[in-house]
Amino acid sequence: MITIMGATGATGGALLRRLTELDVPCRAISRTPDTLRAATGASTSVEVVCADAADPRTLRDALKGSTQLFLAMANSPRQAELETNAIDAAAACGVQHVVKLSAPAAEPASPVAISRGHWRVEERLAATGMTATLLRPYAFMHKLLLNAPAAAQGVLIGAMRDAPCNYIDVRDIADVAAETLLLPGLAGAEYTLTGPQAYSHSELARLLGELTGRPVRHINLSPDEFHSHLLATAHMPPWLAGHVVEIQQLAIARPESPNDTIETVLGRPARTLHDFLREHLHAFTATT
Ligand SMILES: NC(=O)c1ccc[n+]([C@@H]2O[C@H](COP(=O)([O-])OP(=O)(O)OC[C@H]3O[C@@H](n4cnc5c(N)ncnc54)[C@H](OP(=O)(O)O)[C@@H]3O)[C@@H](O)[C@H]2O)c1
Repeated sequence: MITIMGATGATGGALLRRLTELDVPCRAISRTPDTLRAATGASTSVEVVCADAADPRTLRDALKGSTQLFLAMANSPRQAELETNAIDAAAACGVQHVVKLSAPAAEPASPVAISRGHWRVEERLAATGMTATLLRPYAFMHKLLLNAPAAAQGVLIGAMRDAPCNYIDVRDIADVAAETLLLPGLAGAEYTLTGPQAYSHSELARLLGELTGRPVRHINLSPDEFHSHLLATAHMPPWLAGHVVEIQQLAIARPESPNDTIETVLGRPARTLHDFLREHLHAFTATT
């Protein structure tokens, strides 16, 4: 049995839809199972269970009988602790293989705090003896929707200067996760996942302008100014604003370049940012 933790989230939700399309039976975990049941509708291949990673007892109940776990956890200051709980529960329940959604730069001295947490979780996972597949995607395309209201007003604000960024569609991450869950030969792999083309903020602003037919201006702020902007305008909690700034500084320090992992694993090209933006163009043009 494949169990998905994070099934209401962006990547876990896309994986759940993919496994449902393929008619693969699976179990989906949520703290709010009724919402998830409503989303899965009449599907009989999905078993929805309630568990909270902050409560290891509920995790052990939810993971009973599972052989594989897909683990995606929302970013938060408690993320590493919650993921560690999930891994310990999986090991105690006899799970054999974990596909963990991780991130680039998951290293002990990473400049990104969340990535240091991913590193600690990966170390714990390696020590359990379960096989693991680690997915390291770059920035999720759908997070650009957070910029949509500003872009509709003609600005794209960041602190990344002109560093290239490898935006990826979460549906591609989910498709790779499905392959790694369904083909046992892929256990043990570590995949850095990118879109087919990297874009700087200036290039992204130009692309948005072309697609919407309205000019979009790139404004580059200093990291401190951008942090204040995220607190005041985007109303982010300080830890999240700090995370976004760290990620953008990482893109400057370690310029990103696309790879062909999606195509190699899936046998088809990665989804493009151009197509993603066209699909969501209404969000970038809505003026209210
Ligand atoms: N955003 C990016 O650009 C990016 C890039 C690279 C890597 N990543 C990594 O991707 C991961 C996030 O993936 P995502 O965006 O697909 O996730 P997401 O949409 O934020 O969803 C996260 C899931 O976490 C679950 N969750 C949160 N707290 C929980 C708890 N206490 N117990 C059980 N489940 C809990 C939620 O389930 P319920 O609410 O239903 O319980 C939800 O389904 C992070 O590890 C991040 O570092 C993100």
